[in-house]
Order: sequence, then structure tokens, then C-alpha cells
Amino acid sequence: MTGARDRYEAFKARGLKLNMQRGQPSDADFDLSNDLLNAVGPHDTLTAGGQDIRNYSAGGVAGLPEARELFGRMMDVTADQMLVWNNASLEVQGHVLTWALLKGLPGSTSPWAAQRPQLIVTTPGYDRHFLLLQTLGFELLTVEMQADGPDVDAVERLAAGSDRVKGVLFVPTYSNPGGETVSVQKARRLAALKAAAPDFTIFADDAYRVHHLYAQDRDEAVNFVALCAEAGHPDRAFVFASTSKITFAGAGLGFVASSAANVKAVGAWLNAQSIGPNKVEQWRHVRFLEGYPGGVEGLMARHAEIIAPKFAAVDEVLSAALGRGGELATWGTPKGGYFISLDTTLPVARRVVQLAGEAGVSLTPAGATYPGGLDPHDRNIRLAPTRPPVEEVREAMEVVAACIQLASEEYRAANG
Ligand SMILES: Cc1ncc(COP(=O)(O)O)c(C=O)c1O
Repeated sequence: MTGARDRYEAFKARGLKLNMQRGQPSDADFDLSNDLLNAVGPHDTLTAGGQDIRNYSAGGVAGLPEARELFGRMMDVTADQMLVWNNASLEVQGHVLTWALLKGLPGSTSPWAAQRPQLIVTTPGYDRHFLLLQTLGFELLTVEMQADGPDVDAVERLAAGSDRVKGVLFVPTYSNPGGETVSVQKARRLAALKAAAPDFTIFADDAYRVHHLYAQDRDEAVNFVALCAEAGHPDRAFVFASTSKITFAGAGLGFVASSAANVKAVGAWLNAQSIGPNKVEQWRHVRFLEGYPGGVEGLMARHAEIIAPKFAAVDEVLSAALGRGGELATWGTPKGGYFISLDTTLPVARRVVQLAGEAGVSLTPAGATYPGGLDPHDRNIRLAPTRPPVEEVREAMEVVAACIQLASEEYRAANG
């Protein structure tokens, strides 16, 4: 047996059961927010503005005014540019896209569904974006996610080429999976680009906007709502986010920032299907986050203390086993977010994920970062280090490194 196979077989014999697949907070992260459950007492049913959180009417369809204020500050917009909904920003994205298909957006000449709509996505990217868009019937066009954001040359070309191209959906800050943040230069070009469609829209899923790993070394999130207004396209941007990775992933708040006109339009659509969102949850978040030492920023600093060592462990173990020269693989060292994107040098990603699975380490399926689950180069693997404890991250990455060595060796043996 070769050295690589020996090492791999030795890991396999350990009978490990490690999961590096789930982009979820750890229990230690959740524990930081347990006081959310006590943040509203049994007699605390009136908001600061005097609205009864038990009744339908409190706050209206766009959310409690206090929640719109709080998350407006986080998103760098005014309260009237915020709509705070229920759990899951993906649901809010789905609502906006569904209404665009059925009715069109402000500025549309007809519903998007009547126009065989296409949407641009970045690759590698987030599989749930692809799933959502394809389930709704969009045809996807892909552009590369580069170190400073989407390949804007390609976006400009596609947007200018056809009025079926209705917009672009991507993660602007600490992207999933690569951790890239769009530069303000590229953001300005997207805000100003000349599109064939009059209703070309930027859908920015800013899920990791405040998820910095380091206090002193961080990427700055851009403000697409302000940049689009400056560029003369005030209604061009919808910026989504949630508290899923701030408080509780399964019981938080999803929201969207946009022009006040867009917020009104989305509110009117939502009002046809709901009298309003869950006000108890919104009030609880306002109470908890405003009472937290340092507010949202203070809470995110505590998360970083838990998460940053896991990101460091990935880099340390891979660097020690594979070197940083890129002979067998390259990977990012993002300053925030939830993921690390790894590219094998040879087309062996699928084999690496298979070998790791057989050795008890479950990884995100190879290809998941591309529409249809098909990575044209078979090289990209998304690593999700946040959920397991740091010792497990370390152990799992040792296995992954051994799998990369073995899969590369197998490939070279088979291909000369
Ligand atoms: C880019 C991105 N957007 C959205 C989500 C899910 O967010 P939510 O729970 O608010 O729907 C995730 C979760 O991994 C994500 O990575």
C-alpha cells in the first residue's frame, strides 16, 4: 500500500462519525441567546410604542416599528426601508421572487412569469438559492464569484443582452461558500449597470453581513439600497438577512431592506396572504438584542470567539498536511461567514467526498455549489466548520487532507 492509502485506512479504522456538512451554529452559539426565551415576560405585552403584541394590528404588515428600527440600523437603512417578517430570510426571498413572477416588480411591464425569466447566480454558490430559483421556474445563468465579488463584466454583458435577464442573486458579504465580499467599486457598477430589462434587480442575500471573525480585520458590507438610489435606480436592490446565525437558526426573524416604495409594494402583497408577522417573536428579539451588552455587535463578537478557532483549525490542519503551495488543493481564509471553500487541484472533489464519507466524515456533496449539483471541473468542496467542536473540526480535516492525498494519487495513477 502507498503512504496515502495507509494513512487513509488508518483513519477509516477509527470508526469516526464527524459532520462537516451542516452550515449551522453550534449549541454554544445558541446558548448565547437563551435569554431570548425570557426576554418578554407574561405582563410585557405592550411595545415601547404602546402596541399590543398579542393582537393582529400591532405594527402592520411590515413588522413592529421597533424591529424595523433595530434591523434597519444593522442593514444601514431607515425603518421605512425595512420589512421584518417571520423566521427564515429564504422565505422572504421566496415571497419577493414569487410576487415578481406573478405581478412584476415596480417598473415591470408585465409579470416576470410571462417573460421566460432568467436570473444570474454566482458560482460556486449556495445550493438553496439554486433550488429556490429553479423551483420557481427561473432559468439560471452563472457567473464566477471572484475575490472581490461577482464577475461584473459577465453580469453587465448578460444584463445588456436580453430583457429576459431579470437580475442577479448572490451573497454580498462573506459569501457562501467562498467568504468573498463584494467591493464597493463592483457594487457601484452593479447599481449603475445598463440592463435591457427595465426591472433588472439586485437580490443580495446578506446572510453574513455582521458575521465577522476578527475584531480588527474585517470586510465592510456595502449598502446596495443607497448605491442604487445614488445611481438613479432607487428600486433596484432587495437586500435580505435574518437572525438565523445571530440568535436561533430555527426560530428567528427574516427581513428585507429596499426602497420605501418596494417595502410598501412587498407589504401590500404580503398583506393579501397574512394580516402580519409574529409580533411576539419580533418584540422578543428587540428586547433581547437591545439589552445585550454591545447590542448585535456585542453578540456577534461572542460568536466570533467560538467560531474563529474552528476556521483557524481548518487552515492549520490543511496547511500542515498539504502545504500552502497548491500542489493538491487551495482553500480560502475568509474573515467572516460560515464556510470555507476548497478547490482540489485535480478533478477529484467527488472522490474526496466519497472517501471521506466512507471514513465517517460527512462533507457537503461535491457539486452542491453549482446549479444542478454539477461542478464542471469536479474541484469544489464546501467545508462547514461551525457546528462541530474544534477538536472534531481538527480531526475531520486530517481525514479530508488524507482523502485529498489519496484521491489525487489515484487520479495520477489512472491518468498517467
Ligand atoms: C447565504 C445564505 N442565505 C440564507 C441562509 C438561510 O437563512 P435563513 O435561515 O434566514 O433562511 C443560509 C444558510 O446557510 C445562507 O448560507
